[in-house]
Amino acid sequence: MFSRFFSRVGLLAAPFLAIIMGGCSKAEMTVRQSTLDPKGPVAQAQFDLFMQTVWLVVVLFVLVGGMLVYAVIKFRARPGDENKPAIVEDGHGNPLIEIGLITASIGSLVIIAIPTLTAIWYTDDVPAESVPTSKLSAWYPRVEGTRENYAKTVEEEVLVVDVIGKQWWFRFEYPQLGLTNDAKHSVPNELVIPKGVAVRINLRSEDVIHSFWVPKLAGKVDLMPGRKNHMWLQASETGHYYGQCAEFCGDSHAYMLFRVEVLEPAEFAKWVQKQKSDAAPVVAGSAADKGKALFAAKGCVMCHNVGGHFGAGAFGPDLTHLASRKSLAGAWLDNRDLAAQRALERKNDNTESSVEVDPATLKANLIKWIGSSGTSHDANGKPTKDVKPGNRMHNYKMFNVVGLSPLMTAKIDAEKVSLAAAQADAAKALAVAATKSAAEIETIKKQEDAKVAVAKQNLEVAIKGFTAEELDDLAEYLLTLK
Ligand code: CUA
Repeated sequence: MFSRFFSRVGLLAAPFLAIIMGGCSKAEMTVRQSTLDPKGPVAQAQFDLFMQTVWLVVVLFVLVGGMLVYAVIKFRARPGDENKPAIVEDGHGNPLIEIGLITASIGSLVIIAIPTLTAIWYTDDVPAESVPTSKLSAWYPRVEGTRENYAKTVEEEVLVVDVIGKQWWFRFEYPQLGLTNDAKHSVPNELVIPKGVAVRINLRSEDVIHSFWVPKLAGKVDLMPGRKNHMWLQASETGHYYGQCAEFCGDSHAYMLFRVEVLEPAEFAKWVQKQKSDAAPVVAGSAADKGKALFAAKGCVMCHNVGGHFGAGAFGPDLTHLASRKSLAGAWLDNRDLAAQRALERKNDNTESSVEVDPATLKANLIKWIGSSGTSHDANGKPTKDVKPGNRMHNYKMFNVVGLSPLMTAKIDAEKVSLAAAQADAAKALAVAATKSAAEIETIKKQEDAKVAVAKQNLEVAIKGFTAEELDDLAEYLLTLK
C-alpha cells in the first residue's frame, strides 16, 4: 500500500526534481548574468543572504510537508470507513500548539530579519574595513599636491563613479580622475574599475527611472530623477562582466545593457591615461577622412564628442575611444568575434574572460546601428522596429523620423513623387518603342531602368540619411577612434 503511494508521489515529483537538478548544473549557475556566481563582496553578501533564507525555507518545508504527508497517510480513508459514525463534536484545537506555531513563525521571521538587515547595511555604502584593501595610492592622482591635507575619510578614499542613466544607455563619470562629461572625458556603457578596489557608485537619472544591476558584482539599485541613490561594489577577479538596466524605462529597456571591465590596478592607471588622450588624426584623403567630414556634415557632431576632432557634443555617448569598446548601442551589439568568445568561455569555464574587439564585427555593427537603428523606415517611409526601438539618435535631423521633422518628411514625399514619375516615364517610353527592334527596345529599357534606380536611391537616402558608401566611410572613421 505504502509503496504504491510513494511510487505515485515519485511519478509526480520526477519532472520537478529534473527541473531543479537541471537548473543547478554548474553551466547554468555561471551564465553571464548569474546571481549564483558572485565575484565580489557585495554580490557574495547578497548570495549568502539568499542561501540562508533558502535553507530556512527548506527546513520549514520539510517540517510542514512532513507533517502533512504523515497526516495524509495516517488518517487516510480506509475500506469500511463509510460505515463509521461521523465525528459530531469539533474541538477548539490545542492552545499549546497554536501558541507554539505563532512563536515559531515570529522566530523564523526574526531569524531571516537579522541577516537581512545586516546585509542591507553592509551593501548600502562602502564599509570602513573595505578601504585599506583598496590600495588606492597605486593609481589615485592626488590633485594639487594636497595629499598631506587630504582628509582620509572613507568617502574620499574609495573610487567614486557617477552613473547617469539615460534612455537607453549608461554614462560613467569618474570625478576624482577628471573623467567627466563636462571635461569631455566620460565613458559610456563600459564601466572600468580596478580589481580589489571598493567603488562607490552614485546613481543619477536624466530622464526616467532606471536600475543598475551587475548580477555577479552587486545590485540592484534604482536611478531616480531628482533623487540621489548610491551603492558600492568591488570585484575580486579581473574580467568582463555583464550588466543590465533592471527597471522598465521605455521602448528599449530590454536593450539597455552595460559592461563592467575589471582590470589590475596598474592596467587601470593606463586605461585612465588613455581615456584622457585625444583621438589620433586621420590620414588626409582616406575613407576615414571622408567619414570624418560626414560626421560633421550629417550632424553627429551635435551630440557626440570626439576628443581632438570635435568638441561640441555632450548629449550622446563620448566616441573618442569608441573602437576600443567591446560593445555598441547600449552594449546591445557585441564587437567581438562571438565564436572565438564562446570558445574562450568554454575553455576557461567562465564568462568573464574575453577576446579583444574584432574590427570586422565592429564595422558591421556600426553600419547596422547607424544605418538602420532606432525607428528606421521601410521603403514607404513607415517606421519599423530595429536594433533599438525608439532610440533617440534617429530623432535628429539626418535620420528623418517621419512626423518629427517636417522638412525631411517633405523631402521623402518629393522623392516618392520623383520615383513615381520616373516609373511612369519608363512605362511610356517602352510603350512608344514597342514597334522598334528588340535591340533598340533593350537599349531604351536599360536607360529607363537606370533613371528609376537613381530615383529609388534618392528616396532611400531621403529615408535613411546615408548612402551605403557614406555609411562605409563613416564606419571607417569611427574605427580609427581607438
Ligand atoms: Cu533603463 Cu530599463
